[in-house]
Amino acid sequence: MGTPKVALVTGACGGIGSAITRHLAEAGYSVAACDLDQAAAAELAKSLPTQSIGVGVDISDSAAVATAIATVEADLGPVDVLVNNAGIDKIEPFLQSTAETWQKVVSVNYLGTVTVTRAVLDGMIERKFGRIINIASDAGRVGSSGEVVYSGTKGAMIAFGKALAREMATKGITVNAVCPGPTDTPLLKQLSDLSENMFEATRKAVPMKRIGQPDDIAPAVVFFASEGAAYITGQTLSVSGGLTMA
Ligand SMILES: NC(=O)c1ccc[n+]([C@@H]2O[C@H](COP(=O)([O-])OP(=O)(O)OC[C@H]3O[C@@H](n4cnc5c(N)ncnc54)[C@H](O)[C@@H]3O)[C@@H](O)[C@H]2O)c1
Repeated sequence: MGTPKVALVTGACGGIGSAITRHLAEAGYSVAACDLDQAAAAELAKSLPTQSIGVGVDISDSAAVATAIATVEADLGPVDVLVNNAGIDKIEPFLQSTAETWQKVVSVNYLGTVTVTRAVLDGMIERKFGRIINIASDAGRVGSSGEVVYSGTKGAMIAFGKALAREMATKGITVNAVCPGPTDTPLLKQLSDLSENMFEATRKAVPMKRIGQPDDIAPAVVFFASEGAAYITGQTLSVSGGLTMA
């Protein structure tokens, strides 16, 4: 590789985000590790083998996103690869969920993705190169009880990516979605905390009979980011041990 490409990962300090960040750095990318937690993001960036930075940002705040992108461009250069990974979930029956929760989940998972994507797009168009990878969920393909509004945001991320892939198809920019199945992270811990039985039933429902690990998810992201994936756009890839074959 000549000049290292720059990748920006949101939610970089979480279970899946930190694996994606590490795999991208190991593949030679300079990574802007973006997360709510600036100190943890800086710590993560320091541990990487390439020139990388940690940036504190709330992706649901468009002014903060603009500042964060300016910092990344000044410190590392323009963003070549965007991984929209930050996401939140509250596992509970829809009938018990509140409007406040709906707003939060939509503003981070969906509008946050839209905002960060918009902020890097002009530069990608100018340079005729970009890879956008949305970390959606199998919940967005087939629905998941206890995650009704969350499933809606993940379906929205998939459809947003497909529509954007069409608009960007002649500009050297691809947009694809990776859909993790149940994966061993703090987000999934909500499920085992709620009910060990439900967690065990989820594990048994996976044809491979195990919950995914963040290291299972990251290689799919590195693939979509690669030069070799140039002719793949608007696609949705489940990484879920065969749980969803949609
Ligand atoms: N764990 C699973 O089973 C699973 C399954 C399917 C999809 N996913 C998706 O994978 C992605 C990563 O999930 P995870 O399991 O690693 O979760 P996680 O809770 O471990 O990590 C999420 C990270 O996002 C950050 N974050 C939250 N809100 C943010 C905001 N407003 N701005 C910036 N950063 C913010 C958090 O600080 C955290 O570091 C999410 O989009 C999630 O929906 C997870």
